[in-house]
Amino acid sequence: MNIFDGLQDKKTVFKEKKYLDHRFLPDRLPHREEQISSIAKYWVEALNNVTPPDITIYGKTGTGKTAVAKFAMKQLIHAGKGKNTNIRAEYVRCTDYTTEYQVIARLCQQLGQDVPYRGWTKGEVINSFRNLFRRNVFGKDLILLVVLDEIDILLKKDGDGILYTLTRTDNVSIVSISNFVDFKRFIKPRVKSSLRDREIVFPPYGAQQLVDILQERTTLSFKANVLKDDVIPLCAALAAKEEGDARYALDLLRTSGELADEKGTEIVYGDYVREAKDYIEHNKITDIVMTLPTQQQRVLESILYLTKRKEEITSGRLYEVYKFKSKGDTVTYRRIFDFINELEMLGIISTNTVSRGRAKGRTNIIDLQCEISLLEEAIWGM
Ligand SMILES: Nc1ncnc2c1ncn2[C@@H]1O[C@H](COP(=O)(O)OP(=O)(O)OP(=O)(O)O)[C@@H](O)[C@H]1O
Ligand SMILES: [Mg+2]
Repeated sequence: MNIFDGLQDKKTVFKEKKYLDHRFLPDRLPHREEQISSIAKYWVEALNNVTPPDITIYGKTGTGKTAVAKFAMKQLIHAGKGKNTNIRAEYVRCTDYTTEYQVIARLCQQLGQDVPYRGWTKGEVINSFRNLFRRNVFGKDLILLVVLDEIDILLKKDGDGILYTLTRTDNVSIVSISNFVDFKRFIKPRVKSSLRDREIVFPPYGAQQLVDILQERTTLSFKANVLKDDVIPLCAALAAKEEGDARYALDLLRTSGELADEKGTEIVYGDYVREAKDYIEHNKITDIVMTLPTQQQRVLESILYLTKRKEEITSGRLYEVYKFKSKGDTVTYRRIFDFINELEMLGIISTNTVSRGRAKGRTNIIDLQCEISLLEEAIWGM
């Protein structure tokens, strides 16, 4: 008897689940034709041995930024095959390589230059990198396209040195991908001026666009006729409400299918989508709450307390409750604002500034953005 016996041939609604995985890169990206052709228009220069302009891609989470960039990279390399060019396109996720040193070392590694991830000076690593671009007497000079995904993280942590170095290396073209339109406030003017960038915006997907995206994936990943008619429109509508996030739409679809398998039904019903939504939300909130520092958890508990009492939550009132709950072990009123900002970034709360007349000035009103019961469960594990 093997522990895997009987598990492999369990009944399932899926044909190939891997097509619903985040890491899968589809061959077609519906409703991103415009953005893809913009990138192509700039990058085609590389095929003529000219360094393309830098590109900045903006858009909220799940709008296809990473997928489109990777797709364009694949297409470029393909188009360059058999041509007299020396093009390399390298993808770096700045959540994995969070400093200028690490990114440059990573690029060197990718290009076959052995550079250690620590121990050298930054100058040594940069020199090593630039040596890769020394005039090549045998073939064409190297043109390097660097995709810096989630660049906000790197800029916040390590400053704009990376952009300074890359923009001052000949034959390098940068694609910066950011979730925030205002990420350029992290870049100093001297760097900004050498970033010859073109901007491409990725708007949130609408419900009908999400339907198209999901339909393509369904054919690949589910068996025929297992989805009830309302499943895809429902996933799409819920994800359209969540800022047009395609990743969320795909998560809903996959989780609904998993629920069908768990229940042993051969059909995925619309109700499973609603169940999937709760399940995903619950996991997300639990993950966030579990990783919050203690003081911040107390702030969140205080918000929960005030929400349940149906009180209007101003930062002043929040601080009162927080102080009471913390019994002396408190942070300053100033720090509370940082906490509020962070919780808002995580999507757990929203804030709204209201004007209370000249005498009282402006006040921040805090609103919980997730269901009370889910948050309670996450905090107290009920
Ligand atoms: N137009 C599309 N067609 C098919 N699949 C898509 C499309 N847009 C996004 N996806 C899929 O949705 C998921 C999220 O897309 P992607 O990772 O590119 O988003 P993102 O904008 O990079 O988000 P984040 O800012 O969170 O990194 C991926 O699995 C991707 O394959
Ligand atoms: Mg991404």
